[in-house]
Order: sequence, then structure tokens, then C-alpha cells
Amino acid sequence: MGESDVKVLFMPSGRRGFFPRGTPLLDAARSLGVDIDSVCGGRGLCGRCQISCVTGSFAKHQIESDVDHLSPFCATEVKFVERKGPLKEGRRLSCHTTLLDDAVIDVPAESQVHRQIVRKEMESRDIRLDPATRLYYVQIGEPTLEDPRGELQLLIEALEADWGVTGLTLAHSQLQQIQAALTREDRGVTVAIYQERLITGIWPGLFEQPRGIAIDVGSTTVAAHLCDLKTGEVLGLCRRDEPANSLWRRSDEPSLICDDAPRRCRAAHPRHPRSNQWPIGGVE
Ligand code: FES
Repeated sequence: MGESDVKVLFMPSGRRGFFPRGTPLLDAARSLGVDIDSVCGGRGLCGRCQISCVTGSFAKHQIESDVDHLSPFCATEVKFVERKGPLKEGRRLSCHTTLLDDAVIDVPAESQVHRQIVRKEMESRDIRLDPATRLYYVQIGEPTLEDPRGELQLLIEALEADWGVTGLTLAHSQLQQIQAALTREDRGVTVAIYQERLITGIWPGLFEQPRGIAIDVGSTTVAAHLCDLKTGEVLGLCRRDEPANSLWRRSDEPSLICDDAPRRCRAAHPRHPRSNQWPIGGVE
């Protein structure tokens, strides 16, 4: 601990540590293992990393915490508010807020990756969200004559440099998607990665609504639940009742699984760019 270091305590985890003044809160949180979400990698685009400063005197931790102990609202946060609307009162983007003095920081449930949610509709039980497929935003450099690395190589290297994910492979279906996704001037793309191993989706720019399908194969019924992987919400359901012998006889036919899924997905998400295909983590 240096003389000019400041103390930060993250709630509700209770993790705390000392950091040099000017340390971004997201960096401090990560080095303490505090669970704060991020899709854009600290670029101030996704808004998943929101926190708030708790004002007061915390004698047990010897911390006097005040909102002035964080850096003022910055231009990136102003831009974010212009694009997405106002933040809840007291909220800041932790990726663009630095520590100026001792502070107690609250990480709200919606900013936590592994938050607890209570599902009331289908079954009343707590679910710990821990999706197998996660989204990562990166910007890919341009290949040049001097540097002939291909786009896939550049993408994999950007994911490794920005997010530390290594050993990635690409689903064959995604190969042609790389070029198609590079439509933006800043060459920013959002990548879906399954189990931190397999790239299963690529979209231009920042894409923030990961969806998946949970398929329940019963003896006479097959049901598919379209789920929002961020909130756990079930967005749509389709099912097909089949006589048992018919089900197993035709189980190699994809149409049996849900032949009207595309129509229903499209109905639920008319603007989803791939609403006529199985979304992230699904079967293609
Ligand atoms: S990490 Fe995306 S806005 Fe902060």
C-alpha cells in the first residue's frame, strides 16, 4: 500500500482493498474479484458496469465515503446518457469513474454477472445466472500490406488482448459472418463465445441482448423456450405434441424439434437481425 493509496469497499460482496488515486473503479473491482458485468470492455458503451457511491461514515471499515470521492461525471458518461437516456439517481459507469478518496461502492444486482433472480412464472425458485454463452465487444484492426494477418486472426487476438480469452475456435457457420459483421467504420463487433471456447455469433457494433433456447424433450412433447440470457426471462414458447413412436422415429429431422420456431421468434423479436435462425447457443 502506497502513502497516497485510497481505500475502497465494494458492497454487497464486502471485498475491499487499497488502490492508487485515479484507479478506475472497474479495474479496482476486477482486481478484487468483485462481480461487475461488462460487454463493451470499459468503453462506456454498454452501461452494464453501473455502480453507486454510498455516502456516510463506516467506522468498522474506517471509511468516510462521499460522492465527491469519485471523479466528476465525464464526457463519456454524458455521451452514454445522450444515447441511452438518464442513469438512475446516483449511478455512475464504473469503467469511467476513478477513485479520488476512500469510498464505499454499491454494485446493484443488475450490474452483477452472477446475480440471483427469482423466476415466478414457470416455477418459483431462485436461479443463479451463469450463462454458458457470453457477449464480448472488441474493435478489430485493419489488415495492411505490411501486416497480412487475416480478420479471424485479428479478431482472436483482440479478444485475447481485451478480455483474456484464449484458445478460441470458431463455429464453421460463423466463418462467413466475420466479414459481414465488419460494417462499421470503427470495426467494432460483438462476439458470442460459448464456454469461453467457441465463437458462436458475431454482430456489427454493440449487441446487448443475448438469447438462447432451452429445449425440453419429453416422451411425447418437445418444447422450446426462448430465453433472455441476461435476465432469465422467458420470451416465447413453442411446443409440439407427438406420439412417442413418431417422436423417436423422426428424431433426426430438425423440423420436428420446432418447425414453427422461426415464425414465433420473429413474432417476439421482429427487429432481431437473425430472428429467423436459432439465436446464440442454439442449434443451427
Ligand atoms: S463496461 Fe461497458 S459501459 Fe462500462
